Amino acid sequence: MRVSVSQSEIPAVEADLLAIGLREGEELPAEIAPAPGAADAKAGFKKLSAVFPERPARVVVAGLGKREELDLERLRIVAALVAKEAARLKATSVAWALPEGDDPDALAEGLVTGTILGAYRFDRFKSSDPDEPEPPRLESLTLLAPEGVAAAAEAARVCAEAQNRARDLQSLPSNVATPSYLAARAEELAADHDALSVEVLGREEIAAKEMGGLVAVSQGSTEEPKLIVLRYAGGGSGETLGLIGKGVTFDTGGISLKPSAGMQEMKMDMSGAAAVLETVGAVAELGLALDLIAVVPSTENMPSGTAIKPGDIITQYSGKTVEINNTDAEGRLILADALAYAIEQGADRVVDIATLTGAVMIALGSTYAAVIGNDDALVGEIEDVGEATGELVWRLPLHAEYKALMKGTFADLTNAAAKRKAGAISAAGFLEEFVGDTPWAHLDIAGTAWDVGRAYTGGDASGYGVRLLTALARELAD
Ligand code: BES
Ligand code: MN
Ligand code: ZN
Repeated sequence: MRVSVSQSEIPAVEADLLAIGLREGEELPAEIAPAPGAADAKAGFKKLSAVFPERPARVVVAGLGKREELDLERLRIVAALVAKEAARLKATSVAWALPEGDDPDALAEGLVTGTILGAYRFDRFKSSDPDEPEPPRLESLTLLAPEGVAAAAEAARVCAEAQNRARDLQSLPSNVATPSYLAARAEELAADHDALSVEVLGREEIAAKEMGGLVAVSQGSTEEPKLIVLRYAGGGSGETLGLIGKGVTFDTGGISLKPSAGMQEMKMDMSGAAAVLETVGAVAELGLALDLIAVVPSTENMPSGTAIKPGDIITQYSGKTVEINNTDAEGRLILADALAYAIEQGADRVVDIATLTGAVMIALGSTYAAVIGNDDALVGEIEDVGEATGELVWRLPLHAEYKALMKGTFADLTNAAAKRKAGAISAAGFLEEFVGDTPWAHLDIAGTAWDVGRAYTGGDASGYGVRLLTALARELAD
């Protein structure tokens, strides 16, 4: 979407639809107030009212609610509702009058984010119907705002478009978005940006490196696994940030087969990978001054004659042994190798993001992702960027007693605790075994990666993590 900032007067606005925010107790601008519909315009949060001045011809008044309750999240929601109204009206261009406020950059960011995410659709597999043509896509957003917000608006555009690309990757079915497809996307990103380089390991190289977790999970599938490594050399004086994303392109559960109902959702078990890949793209596009290494272990988890079986014992990349008591607890096996690899390759702190446990959905629903880590400063930074971006996180504790749940009977560790206690935390306890003293935070996004239901995320793929991780990278950059 084209995003621009303009100081046009309201009657000179060229867009198909002009949106004006209205807070309770406030008046509409003088150019709009006498127009048909204006007297009835409502200021209640999320209320949209149509107004028809002579110029510009079509205005929507967007209720922002009470002045003191207006925050960035409300602005994202209202902007998304306006984007959906634009689609209903077949408008391809929207202008938004930036509301007054102390922090115009933040207001601009909220409007751009909400508009771009709210306008998202995934319909590339629908045949076109001549009787019911698809509504056109929203092509441009003009902010009626001071020129000073242009940089914030542009950064928000980059992040939101990256997030929509992550949603595309999530939504693509597993017969399209294979590990090789994700690797090709990483190669495309590297080709687009000089500061990015890519390395992709296939089945033989993964086995030669003795990445036993990724070998084990992928051995049941004929689809070739990939270990995707993207390096971003942005310079800067700080440490190298490692990002690790779970890239299970379809999780059947393996021999510990999942029930059929809803299994189609497991095409999105690569949502962490999608977030990491597109975050790296956004960081490169923004040219942030830091060094990054992203590691995405990608595979299918399939039942077959060559699949791992309950009770099998494997050796992870780090040398620790694991008995696989549930082949459906596959994410932690591939993440364990990827975390150890990222640290070996020079990551000074690591953040992993994964649709790791059903338990996190029970604990936090779709409102917060869980964050669990060994470093208060890193977790604190993630909590802060979570608040700022609306990609919320809630910290869960990592007590030594939880780690005891993951002790193996015949091997160092088990991948699935015998007792069904604290499933999201015990999974993190398993991962902690592979990070040593490196500051580490784990994001369990099984509840937030889809089916969130906010106006700007919709009910399908949310792209959760792109804005959060990009904001974290901005915090760590010079
Ligand atoms: N990919 C799933 C977790 C998941 C479940 C994500 C539902 C999104 C929606 C993961 O691989 C898994 O199967 N985890 C198991 C672990 C258990 C066997 C210890 C789970 O949560 O049931
Ligand atoms: Mn699983
Ligand atoms: Zn999984």
